[in-house]
Amino acid sequence: MASQKKEEIRTLTPVIEPSILSADFVKLGDDIRSMVDSGLKMLHIDVMDGHFVPNLAIGPQILRSLKNNFPDIIYSVHLMIEHPSQYIDVFADAGADIITVHVETEHHLDRTINYIQSKGLLAGVSLNPATPISHIQMVMPFVDVILVMTVNPGFGGQKLIPYALDKVRVLSEIRREPEYNYLIEVDGGVKHHNLESVLEKGADLIVMGSAIMGAGDVKEAFVSAENIAKSFR
Ligand code: DX5
Ligand code: ZN
Repeated sequence: MASQKKEEIRTLTPVIEPSILSADFVKLGDDIRSMVDSGLKMLHIDVMDGHFVPNLAIGPQILRSLKNNFPDIIYSVHLMIEHPSQYIDVFADAGADIITVHVETEHHLDRTINYIQSKGLLAGVSLNPATPISHIQMVMPFVDVILVMTVNPGFGGQKLIPYALDKVRVLSEIRREPEYNYLIEVDGGVKHHNLESVLEKGADLIVMGSAIMGAGDVKEAFVSAENIAKSFR
């Protein structure tokens, strides 16, 4: 089931994943509807606990409500929290398709990846900008998604850190080897003006928060980003 979902996602890539972190939550439903009408396939849900990152954001009830209203969207849940393994069930039940945990906060990465996959979901692992790829070397053959943070996690609207983006290029080269099958997700500081450089490095899932959900015309911002991504398909 998870492998089918992964192949379905692969056919969409590279794909823009708006992050609702920067949304106007009063008009979120209307904004999502207008993007769905323009081809939106995925959304990024940022979960923050005020401990692992210095901010609070988005609990499972918001995801559940989105899933009830937009059941066809693929939901990528990014857990920026301590003890992420304690929250897999609740986000799986709320409608997550991908659950990503941070290597910096998960002591039992192998167990947690296996647990997420055992629930029929795709498992992701995320690297902060200062965390090297070598920290996930042992799980790279079986993890579904590697999320490269290109800002320090916690807030939308920050500037992309170039050395972190270089990890996307390296990961893209590594996966030419047949034992690797991961998707590469990039998150933080992606704007329309630097989107091409992110795509050129080999990113599959591109998170855009403030550049889309914080734009005056959300639909227009989504469509213009999707058009750039489309030219790399
Ligand atoms: C930051 C979050 C991001 C955030 C990105 O910690 O993980 O997903 O929404 O926002 P922008 O695209 O504005 O950097
Ligand atoms: Zn995120």
